[in-house]
Amino acid sequence: MKVGIIGGTGGIGQGMALRLSQNHTVYIGSRLEEKAQAACEMCSYALKVLGLPFDLIPTTNQGVVDQADVVVFSIPAENLERTIESLQGLEGKTIISLMNPMVRADFFKYNPPAEGSAAQQLQKLLPQSKVVAAFNNIPAGKWQKLSEPLDYTVCVCSDHADAKTEVMELVNSISELKALDAGPLAVSPYVEAITPLVINIARFSKKRDVGVYFK
Ligand SMILES: NC(=O)c1ccc[n+]([C@@H]2O[C@H](COP(=O)([O-])OP(=O)(O)OC[C@H]3O[C@@H](n4cnc5c(N)ncnc54)[C@H](OP(=O)(O)O)[C@@H]3O)[C@@H](O)[C@H]2O)c1
Repeated sequence: MKVGIIGGTGGIGQGMALRLSQNHTVYIGSRLEEKAQAACEMCSYALKVLGLPFDLIPTTNQGVVDQADVVVFSIPAENLERTIESLQGLEGKTIISLMNPMVRADFFKYNPPAEGSAAQQLQKLLPQSKVVAAFNNIPAGKWQKLSEPLDYTVCVCSDHADAKTEVMELVNSISELKALDAGPLAVSPYVEAITPLVINIARFSKKRDVGVYFK
């Protein structure tokens, strides 16, 4: 699969690139191509040292849209609208949202947009694309720790059956991840809200990289 990551230079973007590029073509996107180049070099070095295969290409965020079949939005949710305005050609594509809008006060609070969730906002902004919420609850640190398998369940929500199936296959192709069909995109607020919960657990219980496994 050709998977591109908008904001691929961030913690979660690079973590995903490290795992996904072992059996998919991955485009690391950025607002600045040099930043994507640097992230790509770091990921390539880490994979080379471990003797792992990879297929990684640095590009701009627009380059991601131009070349990838599946586009992951991995930016802070508050920057979504302006980022979409800067991009062309997302129509018809499968779009993954892993964004979890939240604010930090005495604890982390889920802070969804008026549409209900970041994924629903994305679908409203891109009515001709197929938005799928997935990968919301896996900490970046776990994606990046290549010495350990990635052993989580991944809730997948979408109103587009074909795109949901495609993303569930992508999930199941990564390490030990297991995709769970969580229903339509209207369920995505519940999935996004799990992330501030696990971050609060990590903070108050003094644990690192807390995730969830449904069984
Ligand atoms: N971190 C986690 O553990 C984790 C886990 C699950 C889901 N998520 C979600 O994944 C998303 C990314 O998380 P992150 O921790 O990787 O975030 P981040 O490091 O703060 O940002 C990711 C990338 O977004 C781009 N970006 C930053 N500000 C922007 C702006 N104003 N406009 C457009 N692009 C901008 C930057 O890329 P360039 O400067 O290269 O363009 C940056 O490297 C968030 O929505 C978060 O809720 C995070």
